[in-house]
Amino acid sequence: MTPTLLVTSVVVLALVASLPMLWRRLELSRAKHPSLAGHSRLAKRIARLVPYYSYDGERFFGSDGAPAEVVAARRRALGQLSDTFGRRFAKSIAATRGAADGISDLQFTGRYRVPFQYSAKLRAMLPVGAFVQSSSGVQVTDLDGNQFYDLTGSYGVNVFGVDFYKECIAEGGARVKDLGPVLGALHPCVSWNVERLKEISGLDEVSFHMSGTEAIMQAVRLARYHTGRGHLVRFCGAYHGWWEDVQPGIGNPLPPGRTYTLRDMHSDSLRVLQHRRDIACVLVNPLQALHPNASAPGDSALVDGSRRAHFDRAAYSAWLRKLRDVCTQRGIVLIFDEVFVGFRLAPGGAQEYFGVRADMVTYGKTLGGGLPVGVLCGRADLMKRFREDRPADICFARGTFNSHPYVMGAMQVFLERLDSPEIQSVYAGIDDRWNHAAQRLNARLDGAELPVRVTNLSSIWTVVYTRPSRYHWLLQYYLRAEGLALSWVGTGRIIFSLNYSDEDLEQVMRRFVSAALKMHADGWWWHDERLTDQSIRRTILREMIAQRLGRPLPVPLQLASRAAGSAQDQSSGPAAGTAARGSTA
Ligand SMILES: Cc1ncc(COP(=O)(O)O)c(C=O)c1O
Repeated sequence: MTPTLLVTSVVVLALVASLPMLWRRLELSRAKHPSLAGHSRLAKRIARLVPYYSYDGERFFGSDGAPAEVVAARRRALGQLSDTFGRRFAKSIAATRGAADGISDLQFTGRYRVPFQYSAKLRAMLPVGAFVQSSSGVQVTDLDGNQFYDLTGSYGVNVFGVDFYKECIAEGGARVKDLGPVLGALHPCVSWNVERLKEISGLDEVSFHMSGTEAIMQAVRLARYHTGRGHLVRFCGAYHGWWEDVQPGIGNPLPPGRTYTLRDMHSDSLRVLQHRRDIACVLVNPLQALHPNASAPGDSALVDGSRRAHFDRAAYSAWLRKLRDVCTQRGIVLIFDEVFVGFRLAPGGAQEYFGVRADMVTYGKTLGGGLPVGVLCGRADLMKRFREDRPADICFARGTFNSHPYVMGAMQVFLERLDSPEIQSVYAGIDDRWNHAAQRLNARLDGAELPVRVTNLSSIWTVVYTRPSRYHWLLQYYLRAEGLALSWVGTGRIIFSLNYSDEDLEQVMRRFVSAALKMHADGWWWHDERLTDQSIRRTILREMIAQRLGRPLPVPLQLASRAAGSAQDQSSGPAAGTAARGSTA
């Protein structure tokens, strides 16, 4: 054989040998969602390029190119709203301002309530108080004595109403008080909790942790230990806590390591699971059924009207069944992360609600009866942390506060009450009740010709918008002025506790419509046919490029023509002057 022939043969053989690998790589690429949320590395690179700039002056009010009279109306309205906030929430705002310097979380949430271009001015004009003094029924009271309907759901913890949890904590505390805060040794109520959780989850063993994030860490570690494989699969947009491996991309300084972020509800993802040999587990957060492949819909990302959500129970159940099948075939551990939705959709959680069983299930939030907790339930073979035949090969997981007596006491009361006729009746017809409420609100919004609708997964709602606008994020402030409290992510996540009475719901709906009507009357939803989601995004992109290049921000259409008009009139009044300067940062 000549040397040339030898080299050619080696190259051809190497190519042939690498074909399956290349094919699998291609398959993986195809299973990524085309959005940035599906491409964590790229998303991070792009995030690093986005420059800060802010709107002041006329651009804050006219970034959509609204005509002068609309801009003036908005300016007046924001001034009035600011006065109302300052008067009504004075103590809460003062306490928040005083504390924010020392509470990094407050600085973060305060900054990311709305798109960053508007954030600085809005923080100055509409500061939101972070402190409340009491809660009762479905309401919270701030430091100034204002009562708000609580639509935050305490990040999902509050399923049955604050009074329910106060009772769980008080009664649970009383049960364990003789033991007190002794750790390591277990209070007897732990055995009861374990038995009940085994029944609820249909799984063999339970481990207790301090947060949902930790329960997920433990589930993934065990899946890796038992399968001998390194990678985990999560679906695009899904939140599983803030641990590195489940939060690749923006927010995590490290590059994605052993995480595949695949497209939710898509056959290409099933193919990846079918063919790859390095996948230990698949994580499913059933909340994604409401907005597959999209991240939690915070108002800081509400730059236009493109937020979409829709829940199709049958389609999501069918998807979970397919996932179940492929995971069973391939020996991949299927983990349902029910930290958010567990006990909210049905007494047996998402497994019962969607009719699909997982190999491991995590719970948290509400299960602590109002105290912090994370719980992992799993098959016995997956939960084992050691090997009979290899004594040194262990899978470590301990935590100082795991099985804390007070948490276990509150959990026991929670689980006991879950079986009470009172709580069982809350679950009866639960979806019909919440679907009907959402439909009623939508009918009213539609009747009032407002560009706002709600979409829901049972008692978890999200607000969507029927046409493009740059100002949808303001609705959360109008809602607040009407006495409706949302969490810092704003209108993207409204969480009801199930103890809302029909009268409470009626009140919330009235206030919601009233807030939207006021926002409409104040001109924020002024609309021009040229204003599309695409044109808004293009404008923002042009602004970012200009800012990066150190040039003045391009001026929105109407503002530009007004500025030109005033220049022609040689009467450059203060408003036109501000517009022409384009309020560069
Ligand atoms: C589905 C899901 N998993 C995990 C977590 C993390 O739980 P924790 O905040 O208790 O760490 C959350 C929190 O929101 C969640 O929604």
